[in-house]
Amino acid sequence: LSVKKELEKILSTAPSQELEHTKNDLDGFRKLFHRFLQEKGPSVDWGKIQRPPEDSIQPYEKIKAKGLPDNISSVLNKLVVVKLNGGLGTSMGCKGPKSLIGVRNEHTFLDLTVQQIEHLNKTYNTDVPLVLMNSFNTDEDTKKILQKYNHCRVKIYTFNQSRYPRINKESLLPVAKDVSYSGENADAWYPPGHGDIYASFYNSGLLNTFIGEGKEYIFVSNIDNLGATVDLYILNHLMNPPNGKRCEFVMEVTNKTRADVKGGTLTQYEGKLRLVEIAQVPKAHVDEFKSVSKFKIFNTNNLWISLAAVKRLQEQNAIDMEIIVNPKTLDGGLNVIQLETAVGAAIKSFENSLGINVPRSRFLPVKTTSDLLLVMSNLYSLNAGSLTMSEKREFPTVPLVKLGSSFTKVQDYLRRFESIPDMLELDHLTVSGDVTFGKNVSLKGTVIIIANHGDRIDIPPGAVLENKIVSGNLRI
Ligand code: UTP
Repeated sequence: LSVKKELEKILSTAPSQELEHTKNDLDGFRKLFHRFLQEKGPSVDWGKIQRPPEDSIQPYEKIKAKGLPDNISSVLNKLVVVKLNGGLGTSMGCKGPKSLIGVRNEHTFLDLTVQQIEHLNKTYNTDVPLVLMNSFNTDEDTKKILQKYNHCRVKIYTFNQSRYPRINKESLLPVAKDVSYSGENADAWYPPGHGDIYASFYNSGLLNTFIGEGKEYIFVSNIDNLGATVDLYILNHLMNPPNGKRCEFVMEVTNKTRADVKGGTLTQYEGKLRLVEIAQVPKAHVDEFKSVSKFKIFNTNNLWISLAAVKRLQEQNAIDMEIIVNPKTLDGGLNVIQLETAVGAAIKSFENSLGINVPRSRFLPVKTTSDLLLVMSNLYSLNAGSLTMSEKREFPTVPLVKLGSSFTKVQDYLRRFESIPDMLELDHLTVSGDVTFGKNVSLKGTVIIIANHGDRIDIPPGAVLENKIVSGNLRI
């Protein structure tokens, strides 16, 4: 009850032009918070989790083998591309939206996305639109940049996801005292995860507009996944299903390696496909969950969803996503929680869902500067906004790169490489401490460079390091 009062107090401080959407946000929050208070115990019963049946996750090769119809342009014109753009670049030491970080030849995530879709539209003479789901953290900066694409052959739309109040962990009351989200209140609000897309897209009116224009599917993905390009074979499978029965929801999954055992996996649960995340697994079963042999695949968050189905389920209030409780400590030391949901968790609410096991190349996320080094290097070539692994690389696998904490921020990372080394023959790179790389360095095999505290290592220009450990002090 006291939460309700606090929320009413906050709402009463909203200026009239913000009243309606603030009310929507706080209503949405109240429902989620109510569910959180009601729910006791784990959200899945481990005993009921089964391996998904054979035909519920199909190999991509099988989907591709069917080829493409002549009318692929009309199929494409039923598609809307949605990028999740609510996140900031903080984990790579950047201010502002993550999508505005330069990832390849000065091109940002957003530039590459626009280039990809423009290329598609020009090639097939189509009008596939791009929709960005922004958050209050990213909306202003993103909109400023959008002008630069005015002359591109891509119509760009944006809508804002909700803004929910963070909750004091002890009192379970909102930290915010009023609706503002700057100054003292800057930390008091958060975007509640990408599961928010269903309600926010619906409430924005865009969902209905697109249905009115004859659009049928959205392709949703993380804007920081450079491998999430529009795949015509998957789209064709959705629009022309072999058994005549349309899928309402397709999740692209890919084979787990030992590096991604923590990713959410698709399971069979009460007769339906269900995404299970590690946080939902009881401690005693975590090893079983992580096992590469029992649960072979994980969610790439590339999702294809029927617009009509989203509309129907949203209107029935029937989209069910588990609550993710995310604890945080604010700058001043206050412990808070934020309640979130994930877009893929809704798979169980849709009819006739399907997993498609796609090649690893469709999952190329850039979460750290180590990932950034890979995508900036000659391991990849850039073609109309898409990155593909260089043909000059002999093995199809990506090297394992671990850059130390002096490289965490993009600015520091850029300062430390005069040019990006040749990495075509690299298997493994570990760098730690105060290290810099001169121009045209070549890294091959396993290379480990460790500058201990107080030391500095400058790799000289033109150096070729092959299966080498470098340590000590090396200044040039
Ligand atoms: P995350 O920061 O959640 O990355 O952002 P993750 O944890 O590696 O990925 P998931 O959650 O397992 O998929 C993933 C994408 O979702 C957007 C981010 O901008 C990014 O593109 N996002 C995240 C939102 O749009 N809104 C949110 O509230 C959270």
